Amino acid sequence: MRKPIIVGNWKMNKNNAETKAFFEAVDGVAASENATYGIGCPFTDLRTALDHAKNLVVAAENCHFEDSGAFTGEVSVPMLEEMGVKYCIIGHSERREMFGDTDETVNKKAKRLIKAGITPILCVGETEADYDAGNSEKVIREELAGSLADLCPKCVGEMVIAYEPIWAIGTGKSASVEIAENCCKIVRDQVKVMYGEEAAEKVRIQYGGSVKPNNIVEYMAQPDIDGALIGGASLKEDSFTEIIEKTK
Ligand code: G3P
Repeated sequence: MRKPIIVGNWKMNKNNAETKAFFEAVDGVAASENATYGIGCPFTDLRTALDHAKNLVVAAENCHFEDSGAFTGEVSVPMLEEMGVKYCIIGHSERREMFGDTDETVNKKAKRLIKAGITPILCVGETEADYDAGNSEKVIREELAGSLADLCPKCVGEMVIAYEPIWAIGTGKSASVEIAENCCKIVRDQVKVMYGEEAAEKVRIQYGGSVKPNNIVEYMAQPDIDGALIGGASLKEDSFTEIIEKTK
C-alpha cells in the first residue's frame, strides 16, 4: 500500500508573511494518517514554513549537488539538511528549460539528497511537440534512464517521481485521466526495468499539470497515480484546503 503524497509547488511566489499566513490557515487541515501533504517553497520561505509546519511537510524547490564552493546563488544539500528540510523537488521542467538542468545534473542531485536522507521529488515530462509527435513514452523513459542512473533499488523505492507533461503546466489544459494514468504507469514500468518489481511497487508517482480541486479526486482514483504536484492551486489557501479535504 503506497501512502498518497500531495505537494504544492509555489515556484517563485510568496514572501515570509504570506507563508506564515498560509501555514496558519492550512497546516491544521493537513493532519492525516492516510496521506502526506506538503508545500515546496522558495529558499527564503523555508525557515518560516518549517517553523509553522506541524502536519505539512516542507520541500525545497531545487538544490546543488556540490556541498560547497564557488557556485554563486546556489544552495547545497547540507544547507537544506541543517534547516530540517525533508523533501526536495528536482528536475522540474522550468529548471530544465530555463536554468540548464539536465538528466545528468538531476541524477547528481538525487544522489546527494538520498545520501542526506532528503526525499527527492524527481520531475519528468514531455513537451507539447513531443506529445503531438507521439513521443511521450520515449521521453519519459529516457529522462528516467538518465535521472535515476546508478541508484540503489531501495533508494528509488523511497523516492517520489512526478510526471508533469509540460503542455499541462499552468495552462489549465490538464492531461486526461487516461493519459495521466498511462504515463504514470510508464514511469512505474521504467522503474521496474531499472530497479525491479519491489522498487516499482513502492515508488510513489505523482501527476502534475493543472490539478485543481475539481479534478484531484479522479486522478487519485487511478491505480498508478499516488499523488499530485500542484502549482497554481497550491497558492490559494482555500483551493489547497479543498484539495486536502477531498483526498483525506
Ligand atoms: O510542479 C507543479 C506544476 O508545474 C504544475 O503547475 O500550475 O499547472 O498546477 P500547475
